[in-house]
Amino acid sequence: QRYNVAVVGATGAVGAKMLETLDKKNFPINELYLLSSKRSAGKELEFQGKTYTVQETTPESFEGIDIALFSAGGSVSKKFAPEAVKRGAVVVDNTSAYRMDPEVPLVVPEVNEADIKTHNGIIANPNCSTIQMVAALKPIQDQFGMSRVIVSTYQAVSGAGNEALDELRTQSKAFLEGENLEAELLPVSGEKHHYPIAFNALPQIDVFQENGYTFEEMKMINETKKIMHDDKVHVAATCVRLPFFTSHAESVYVEVNKEGVTADQFKSAISNAEGIVLEDDPENQVYPTPLSSAGKCDVFVGRIRKDLDNEKGFHLWVVSDNLLKGAAWNSVQIAESLIKNNWLQK
Ligand code: A2P
Repeated sequence: QRYNVAVVGATGAVGAKMLETLDKKNFPINELYLLSSKRSAGKELEFQGKTYTVQETTPESFEGIDIALFSAGGSVSKKFAPEAVKRGAVVVDNTSAYRMDPEVPLVVPEVNEADIKTHNGIIANPNCSTIQMVAALKPIQDQFGMSRVIVSTYQAVSGAGNEALDELRTQSKAFLEGENLEAELLPVSGEKHHYPIAFNALPQIDVFQENGYTFEEMKMINETKKIMHDDKVHVAATCVRLPFFTSHAESVYVEVNKEGVTADQFKSAISNAEGIVLEDDPENQVYPTPLSSAGKCDVFVGRIRKDLDNEKGFHLWVVSDNLLKGAAWNSVQIAESLIKNNWLQK
């Protein structure tokens, strides 16, 4: 059986990776619809040797669609996801619009695939930084229990979209030519102040909340508890944007419940987990980096060490392509699971 698929935000940074992933994984597509805003309507995109014309997203775009992959911003999902569901489509939404809605499953298939089954037409794809962290922590939670997580992120610019990538290119060139850097977009479009990302590090991703954390940090905190089905685990996050194009890296500290766990046991739990690749050999300088993981679907983990003062504490370094496992691949995996398990019907 083959399915009618719509990609909303097909002209965006994640949209391009959605198409690449649908192709690479040989997704069973019957008809494909590429949707955007009015701006890109009429633009032509190639998919599997065929040319498709991008269309403006309207409620009627979803007539006859089985699966709609959304990645065009939260307001677009809020407006059009219910229209798609009304017309019988199942939506996999890559924005933050529905993630914390108790009616909407928030899924990383390696962690909580069974939650997909409870959907009412919308399944949310978590935040990119959250996905790779919970994928790495799942085997630790299963085998040793987990009481606390403290994470600092080193996030790529592609997470902020194509325009942000252009800003990094322009500023990098200006910096090397000794010119003034103009910042118009990052850290957050629409904010009062903008700072250069080139040759810099910005400790703000998304807008500040009243509690002093940014929305990106709160996404990591709240989504981790929801996906891992653990309200009690303590989570703290500091999210930082750095001037590279692809893949997020994270320094993660985790406290386990079980006593006497060794670094070797911790490593073997990680290396046996689905979707995780252990790259950890300090003697030979083996560890993952943003460049080494870019373009790959897995989550890479290295630098596993036991804390020197806390017997139950461990440190690890988690790297993954933010546009693939962090967005497009996780969404396509959810769509594959809907088909494989016969969960498309509500
Ligand atoms: P468009 O090309 O028409 O602007 P990125 O994350 O790289 O910035 O991409 C955002 C994606 O979301 C693009 O495909 C963009 O289309 C799409 N988009 C933005 N606003 C809307 C809208 N109002 N309706 C549908 N798609 C939108």
